[in-house]
Amino acid sequence: MQNINAYINEHKQRFIDELIDLLKIPSISADSTYKKDVLNTADAIKESLLKAGCDNVEICQTDGYPIVYGEKLIDKNLPTVLVYGHYDVQPPDPLDLWNSPPFEPVIQKTDLHPEGAIFARGACDDKGQMYMHVKALEYMTTNNELPCNVKFMIEGEEEVGSANLGKFVAANREKLENDVILISDTGMIAKDVPSITTGLRGLSYVEVEVTGPNRDLHSGLYGGAVANPINVLTKMIASLHDENNHITIPGFYDKVENLSDEERAEMAKAPFSLEAYKKALDIDAVYGEEGYTTNERNSIRPTLDVNGIWGGYIGEGAKTVIASKAYAKISMRLVPNQDWEEITQLFKTHFERIVPKAVKVKVKPHHGGQGYVTPIDGVGYQAASKAYEQTFGKTPIPQRSGGSIPIVALFEKELKSKTILMGFGLDSDAIHSPNEHFGVWNYLKGIETIPWFYKYFTELKSVE
Ligand code: BES
Ligand code: MN
Ligand code: MN
Repeated sequence: MQNINAYINEHKQRFIDELIDLLKIPSISADSTYKKDVLNTADAIKESLLKAGCDNVEICQTDGYPIVYGEKLIDKNLPTVLVYGHYDVQPPDPLDLWNSPPFEPVIQKTDLHPEGAIFARGACDDKGQMYMHVKALEYMTTNNELPCNVKFMIEGEEEVGSANLGKFVAANREKLENDVILISDTGMIAKDVPSITTGLRGLSYVEVEVTGPNRDLHSGLYGGAVANPINVLTKMIASLHDENNHITIPGFYDKVENLSDEERAEMAKAPFSLEAYKKALDIDAVYGEEGYTTNERNSIRPTLDVNGIWGGYIGEGAKTVIASKAYAKISMRLVPNQDWEEITQLFKTHFERIVPKAVKVKVKPHHGGQGYVTPIDGVGYQAASKAYEQTFGKTPIPQRSGGSIPIVALFEKELKSKTILMGFGLDSDAIHSPNEHFGVWNYLKGIETIPWFYKYFTELKSVE
């Protein structure tokens, strides 16, 4: 791996240009208007894997968007790394908050990225991070440095809940057989504080509908005498947290894993500035569950949040109306041992119980998934740790993330292997937000670090 830096230096402009081409395709999985673009992105990934040295690449059809599968198998006695990533992206709206169009990538310097960052939807989540693996493979195959077998599985429905990936994995256990799963779809603490994500939260996502009168009513003629679904819904939602910001759904915390004081003390060692955190978000105070720090609230504790709420008149000017219906989309982030289907059921039962007689409520479950924790004493974690030591000159900090990649728990169940999350994004990269970006430095650092993982993993595995 000694000449990796020279190789990156020589080819970095092309690495950036290729990623920019990929980012130009609006592969928005949530919006069917972009179906052709999503499919074209799968084709582009296939081409890039072939060019990077995969011997066999297939576009695997599913009931939704296809999964791109690629492999380079050099010796069945050597270990196999399975790389997972996603080529779909979040919708870019609100469009007017972007400083440049989301699918016309530009490189801009920022305070945290003086070398420049690529601004585009998907730059960090996950096209940029996924493509680091393609370029790392290119380096290893071109320089005869690939130490083990590698498989790629890049899907196009992660941002909409990976509905068809589970079936694909279950039906292709042999094809996907591996010794470790490697994913870059998370972040790290800072450019000079490398970290490895050791936990992901689970998720339960539901939509609720409250119906009052059978039609929209004049708010003067009927106001005060019939239930207003928006008033009722907001009251019901407000009651889901108590004065200490604990969630009030009976049974919600029953299975929550409680960390020991030692584990919490260990967590608290990770560098974190509350002042910088507040400043970055322009807030005067943080807010959350009593008794927990900010970093605990957003990683080891479960949450309940309204993601969207609507109903009634929201056009220009004023319309005096009591709407017939009100809606909300609610997500619950879960921690290890909480089962997402059980939590969804607890929510439904509770929400249907607290509804006043004057309205009707419907709870519609969307998607969900279990949380995940990676052990830090396994060969995969150790190999990743050594890889970061090699390229950052520092031992990375294990850190649990608040985000979710629901399919990771399923990989463990179906494929019996652990996932290592080597993320190179920063919290400030604005994933899912306007002006998403990915530092050029981070992109190249990822390409540099990944091959070392392969090397150390193969070595450690051989003496295990
Ligand atoms: N890459 C993110 C998840 C993530 C980001 C985890 C940063 C940890 C750190 C992924 O694409 C994502 O957005 N996941 C969704 C869940 C999915 C079911 C839509 C999420 O976390 O909201
Ligand atoms: Mn992602
Ligand atoms: Mn995402």
